[in-house]
Amino acid sequence: MFLDAGDLSPEATYRLMSGIVVPRPIAWITTVSEDGVVNLAPFSCFTFVSNKPPMLGVNIGRKAGKRKDTGANIHAMGEFVVNIGDASQMVAIHESSAEHAPDVSETELLGLDTLPCNTVRVPRLADAPVSMECKLERVIAFGQTGAEFIVGEVTAFHLRDGLLHDGKVDTRALNPVCRIGGPNYATLGEIVTLRGMQQTAKTVMDGGRGG
Ligand SMILES: Cc1cc2nc3c(=O)[nH]c(=O)nc-3n(C[C@H](O)[C@H](O)[C@H](O)COP(=O)(O)O)c2cc1C
Repeated sequence: MFLDAGDLSPEATYRLMSGIVVPRPIAWITTVSEDGVVNLAPFSCFTFVSNKPPMLGVNIGRKAGKRKDTGANIHAMGEFVVNIGDASQMVAIHESSAEHAPDVSETELLGLDTLPCNTVRVPRLADAPVSMECKLERVIAFGQTGAEFIVGEVTAFHLRDGLLHDGKVDTRALNPVCRIGGPNYATLGEIVTLRGMQQTAKTVMDGGRGG
């Protein structure tokens, strides 16, 4: 089958690409509005983009041309928290994607406890196994829908006790949720361990910045 990308509507392209780029991890993002309302929503167009300093990127679309609350809050406050939920939180992750007015707090609505952060004014989810405090680094708009790739620098990590061994996250203990197409999710299946590959150590470029 051949599809000319130029013939596809934004909706059809979204359906296609979100079925192809799978499985996707989920950034469960807390933000705060200028009025102090705590917002929570999941975003699976999510990856990490730098390790020194650590940076995360998430693609946030629009609703009827207007920024989603998460995007608007990040623009206004310059801060956000990427929480990683576990499989026991799958329903709450999904429910937090329901559209609400900006003055409605999804953390309150879903009865999710929050805790203050150390380096940002945004709270983190108390029961998430991982939370990453982020300061806005860059916003890059792509394409015709007004979607924005938002990059944040991680200024602090919170990890549940017992998750980290020798600097590595115990993936089974993390028990992450991933999104596939539509309202479909998956959890970890079989983990296959192959031989370790020799990799050149990661270093900082002269002058501190790649080019
Ligand atoms: C698992 C999951 C992943 C999602 N990923 C994205 C995404 O990457 N980008 C996006 O714009 N919306 C994504 N959404 C939709 C948003 O969560 C949804 O639009 C939400 O209402 C935004 O909330 P807000 O207006 O409070 O920011 C996703 C929804 C679900 C359920």
